[in-house]
Amino acid sequence: MCEKQKTIAVLTSGGDAPGMNAAVRSVVLAAAAKGMRVLGIRKGYLGLLHEDFIELTVKNVSNIINLGSTMLLSARCPEFKGMEKVKEGVEICKKHGICGIVVIGGDGSYRGARDLSVAGLPCIGLPGTIDLDIACTEYTIGFDTAVNTAMQAIDKVKDTSSSHERCSIIEVMGRNAGYIALWCGIANGAEDILLPEKYDYDEQEIINHIIESRKKGKTHHIINAEGIGHSTSMARRIEAATGIETRATILGYMQRGGNPTAIDRYYASIMGAYAVDIMIQGKTNRVVGYKHGEFEDFDIEDALKMEKGINEYQYEVAKLLTI
Ligand code: ADP
Ligand code: F6P
Repeated sequence: MCEKQKTIAVLTSGGDAPGMNAAVRSVVLAAAAKGMRVLGIRKGYLGLLHEDFIELTVKNVSNIINLGSTMLLSARCPEFKGMEKVKEGVEICKKHGICGIVVIGGDGSYRGARDLSVAGLPCIGLPGTIDLDIACTEYTIGFDTAVNTAMQAIDKVKDTSSSHERCSIIEVMGRNAGYIALWCGIANGAEDILLPEKYDYDEQEIINHIIESRKKGKTHHIINAEGIGHSTSMARRIEAATGIETRATILGYMQRGGNPTAIDRYYASIMGAYAVDIMIQGKTNRVVGYKHGEFEDFDIEDALKMEKGINEYQYEVAKLLTI
């Protein structure tokens, strides 16, 4: 069990997200306040297996709350999916006197945390992903910054689309989740919003909509999308069918970078301290979430089984606003 004078570790894993540094800082400060030592594991589970550790002190986490990226670096480590490597990770932790790990990442990273917990090493997960695709929480570290970055970029694309009376397909990130696309669709006043959860590949419907809105005098047509396949070839097909110049813009990795917003700094900080609190209480195999205005923790196995879909009402409103 993790208690005063003991050593805990923290790592960031999977796709990085703005606000991960704020969470790391909070873990270190909260643990230091309880008289605990913190080791940073660099490069996620890969770094754990390579014993790539750094001492994290109050001093060396100062001035990172405002920074994007993650000071601990992040990596994918496919070999960690086997129990053999997980057990190796537990042994390494024992060797270094680590009594538990705070894992900041997405659902893949929680699977690693669950396996470590089952193998005897207490782990607490924090939701670190720009995709907002973790079912047990309404907030994930990095989403707010990513959605603001995408929104600002889309505003700019919209400006030039208007000048040239073009149609623009703008691809955002999110993997299988359409939250960035949905939020930007509303925030940027997009004319069409295509989400992986909802898009039925009916291109004719989009073509008709573009022709209709051009007749109404709209000088641009913004299609905000994720998970639609190849946006450049879609742009070519739309241009051929409508006679309206159409371009594709893929926003890409810029959405994972940049200084975190106040929301990401704030929530990540509360969650980091919360993780230390529940670890000291002896909890293990838990993931921290934010639901109905409260921070809560959930069993990782239960959290992994939960499902999250696009809120129907919010989607209906978004569609209504594209007309
Ligand atoms: P995310 O955490 O953002 O969902 P990934 O799915 O890539 O990102 O997972 C990050 C890392 O978590 C993987 O590279 C691997 O080390 C570990 N991981 C993923 N799935 C599992 C699993 N089923 N069992 C154990 N570890 C896993
Ligand atoms: O999970 C975050 C994310 O940026 C997704 O939106 C995207 O699909 C994926 O990671 C890209 O992963 P990679 O860094 O492996 O290209």
